[in-house]
Amino acid sequence: MPKVTIKTDNKTIEVKEGYPLIDMCEDHDTSILFGCRDGACGACMIRVIDGEQFISKMQDNERDFLETMAAAPNERLACQCKVSGGDIVIEVSE
Ligand code: FES
Repeated sequence: MPKVTIKTDNKTIEVKEGYPLIDMCEDHDTSILFGCRDGACGACMIRVIDGEQFISKMQDNERDFLETMAAAPNERLACQCKVSGGDIVIEVSE
């Protein structure tokens, strides 16, 4: 099972294949915040430090939003991400 390490919280959580990050955060106490849950508010922005290839591919709505926010290439919206195939390391974007 993939492991998600949240550096901001100094926490590593094991998840099922294809498990949404938003559900993982609801199951555990993390510092990733959520608002709209639909890729439209930016509250859940994270920075991917490692394992980007194990996060679900970016869809158009997420890409459009991140472009509007002038986000860095390694920033994603946690509410739009699922994890499968390997371990990832993320932190909360500031
Ligand atoms: S919760 Fe609003 S963009 Fe993710």
